[in-house]
Amino acid sequence: MTEHLVWHPSLVTKTDRQLLNGHKSFVLWFTGLSGSGKSTLANEVDRQLYKLGVKSYVLDGDNIRHGLNKGLGFSQEDRIENIRRIGEVSRLFVDSGQVVLTAFISPLREDREQVRKLFEPGEFIEVFIKCPLEVCEQRDVKGLYLKARRGEIREFTGISSPYEIPLKPELIIDTALGEVAESARQVIDYLRGEGLI
Ligand code: PPS
Repeated sequence: MTEHLVWHPSLVTKTDRQLLNGHKSFVLWFTGLSGSGKSTLANEVDRQLYKLGVKSYVLDGDNIRHGLNKGLGFSQEDRIENIRRIGEVSRLFVDSGQVVLTAFISPLREDREQVRKLFEPGEFIEVFIKCPLEVCEQRDVKGLYLKARRGEIREFTGISSPYEIPLKPELIIDTALGEVAESARQVIDYLRGEGLI
């Protein structure tokens, strides 16, 4: 399909754009169960980055599935395609000199590793949002776990579809006990420590 396509290199480089923005560009890839707090934390970190003058943007599973990835469901095949597309979109953001925060369950290790390969070393920061299934299920913010237990939702992550815990994430944030402000502080501290912001 790509045999008659020619790549057009940009005249402005990623480094030029990073210099203009005054910071590095990278992806903060939040992964974890439904209800673990990915979106809440991604949005809080985004808010703090904004206050620090960092150009950032959140891509969120629920939102992206209303538009760009409308039509994709939750079969293994569709989830793989969902994550592949988000990986590519994230690469465009990073190439444009911006920081992108993604909040997708992204349940499979292999899919996350494929996304990591799209980036230069240090640009892909995998953040495991650690929260036991029982806690997510107890919270059941959207009432989806109850439906999944009743068999009203098929292939629900953690119940009837797998979630593979990251083996070597750059960051692990435990959201079972901690406050969102404290979790966001941990992420910001990490970014500062790595000289990324
Ligand atoms: S994935 O696995 O990365 O492709 O999923 P993602 O795009 O992040 O979408 C997760 C949100 O979709 C809702 N939802 C489900 N989640 C898991 N399994 C099933 N079957 C399902 N059906 C709908 C749910 O609201 C998820 O949102 P979060 O924010 O993760 O709770």
